[in-house]
Amino acid sequence: MSKRIVIELTNRCNLACQHCFSGRHGGNDDLSLDLLEKVFGEAKRLGFEHLTFTGGDPTVYRYFAELLAKVAEYNYRFSFVTNGYNFTASHKKILPYLDWLEQITFSLDGATEESHGALRGKHSFRQVIAAMKLAKSLDIPFSNNMVVTRHNYLELRDLAELVYSLGSKGLRFGHLMHSPLTTAKGWDLSLDERQQVEANIWQLQADYAQKLPIAMAPGFSTEQLFPCAPLNMMEVNIDAHGNISKCCHLSSHGPIASQDDVVGNLATMPFSEGVLKLFAANERFKRLKQAYFEKAASQDNKSPCWYCSKHFRKVDWLKQFPENPWFEYLNSVAETK
Ligand SMILES: C[S@@+](CC[C@H](N)C(=O)[O-])C[C@H]1O[C@@H](n2cnc3c(N)ncnc32)[C@H](O)[C@@H]1O
Ligand code: SF4
Ligand code: SF4
Repeated sequence: MSKRIVIELTNRCNLACQHCFSGRHGGNDDLSLDLLEKVFGEAKRLGFEHLTFTGGDPTVYRYFAELLAKVAEYNYRFSFVTNGYNFTASHKKILPYLDWLEQITFSLDGATEESHGALRGKHSFRQVIAAMKLAKSLDIPFSNNMVVTRHNYLELRDLAELVYSLGSKGLRFGHLMHSPLTTAKGWDLSLDERQQVEANIWQLQADYAQKLPIAMAPGFSTEQLFPCAPLNMMEVNIDAHGNISKCCHLSSHGPIASQDDVVGNLATMPFSEGVLKLFAANERFKRLKQAYFEKAASQDNKSPCWYCSKHFRKVDWLKQFPENPWFEYLNSVAETK
């Protein structure tokens, strides 16, 4: 796997999904092209080969066409994740740059109009299905993401069959990061339920081995303490404010986002300095996590993203939800800071 930069181009979006942190879609910020061009130049010299765009929705980014021209000029491979909502219009901007495109990832959070729409709003299912059909007809490679919650966890196999039938190149399931809204709705699965979901996904992966690559995003239960690209310095994240942050899973997390995962802003430091700061912050984090689990009880919850969420104070608000199945895991990590 090549080193990549994940860039939140904007915190504006054409949807307002129930599971998404408001800071990701309720803003009015677009990264400037000047800032991105500086990053592209420096990052190439540091060995980065791949750019992944996220948001908000990348397709509503004000300078999307100009951005893709820069990607080609600096000769990066790129991919982006989108809700597919306005793909029938926005795909025209991508067509000149297919030689640089690795894939588009369409987010699909249910196998039916009802379940996808419950998170993403009415009409969004029809739009994303139309986007996938259009991509297929134009030979544009695409994959899919699904966030697993209580409302859709029984649809994993149906969803795999659906995206396979539409020509998807791969499907990645991810656990829900806690937010006050999803918690209030009771959509968080317990740790035991998540582990049952994981077992179902590994079974699905085996069943589809000859048809469709199926994977899970980091965050599933594992004995590995550092199981993801950001912690292994294979991925650097830039948020819509120009911050270099630990991980896109953590940016805008929580109602009043804690900023402990941010190492600096690209308005005041070069990208190379941000990478060094990130490396130092990662090393410190890894020492603390290692020390914590050397002392922790063997049955302690090792869900990696949950550990980060607590360490970076993203889920302090969960104290108001004592009936939530994750409440019992709230107390253990804070003292490691
Ligand atoms: C923030 S969105 C940005 C890209 C684009 N707007 C989209 O929806 O695909 C990137 C991915 O994060 C997922 N996501 C949003 N909120 C999440 C949460 N609370 N937990 C886990 N994943 C989440 C979305 O479902 C989507 O697949
Ligand atoms: S998940 Fe994506 S489409 Fe939905 S509100 Fe968030 S950024 Fe927008
Ligand atoms: S939240 Fe932590 S464990 Fe999860 S992907 Fe990000 S850095 Fe890795």
